[in-house]
Amino acid sequence: MNKIKKFLVIGNPINHSLSPELQNYWLKKNNINAIYDKQRLDIDDLRDFVLKIKSKEIAGANITVPFKKEIIPFIDKLTPESEGTDSVNTILLNKGETVGCNTDITGFEKAIKETNYNFVKKKVLILGAGGVVPSIIFALQRMGVKHIILSNRTKLKAEELRNSYKKKNFNENIITVVDWGELPNFDVIINATSVGLERDQKLDLDFSKIEKGKFFYDVIYNPKETNFLKAGKQLGNQTENGKKMFIYQAAEAFKIWHKVEPEINEEINKLLDK
Ligand code: ATR
Repeated sequence: MNKIKKFLVIGNPINHSLSPELQNYWLKKNNINAIYDKQRLDIDDLRDFVLKIKSKEIAGANITVPFKKEIIPFIDKLTPESEGTDSVNTILLNKGETVGCNTDITGFEKAIKETNYNFVKKKVLILGAGGVVPSIIFALQRMGVKHIILSNRTKLKAEELRNSYKKKNFNENIITVVDWGELPNFDVIINATSVGLERDQKLDLDFSKIEKGKFFYDVIYNPKETNFLKAGKQLGNQTENGKKMFIYQAAEAFKIWHKVEPEINEEINKLLDK
């Protein structure tokens, strides 16, 4: 009998991660002899961790905050998407080499496609500058948005992100940075901060003067409706949480490792609602 393959998601903290629920569901469903677990690591453990993939002790991994960038120096090869975002969330071994992939980009694109909201030539305001924002920016520019405005509590982080992006991906000034607290005019607003992960948390921003017809997107999916999405809805705007993005990024990783398209069904939805 073949030895059972081991996959992992690593991050810090990691307890909250629901990736094992999804991946193990699909592994079972597709009769694949493997398990998927989660592990909290420290930054000093990353080198050894990647070596374990190289030596096949671990078959593949997902990387989550805060290591999506920090893992890069230890990986042999990057896909163009990982290179363009400085962000890796999936590692596989291919012909003896570790390859860093980014499935957050496709995850976001597929989730947005299902909302039927057309992002072409739109003005998008992103709140936050953390782990997932480079991938969202990459996806937005691929979707043909006109302008991306970054706003982060620590402005310097947003500025650094804009500068590294400009160098890698853009010839024109598609990204601007504004002070935290400013709400310039936008078509789409994306909450990519961690504010709202706890039910009572509220962004210290005043949305009351925003006109109708906007699109409010929250990367958070648990709770289902953050105060940010509630505010958007109350003002008569379209809203969407990050659940589909999470499912699609996981499905893309599954496809990369197992060469099988996993089924996204009602059971998957229920697994994540627990
Ligand atoms: P990381 O920053 O380690 O990548 P993350 O969870 O991906 O972690 O990102 C957290 C984001 O939420 C950051 O943009 C953070 O802003 P700072 O860069 O200023 O830390 C933002 N954030 C967290 N708490 C916040 C708060 N109370 N108000 C506004 N933004 C907040």
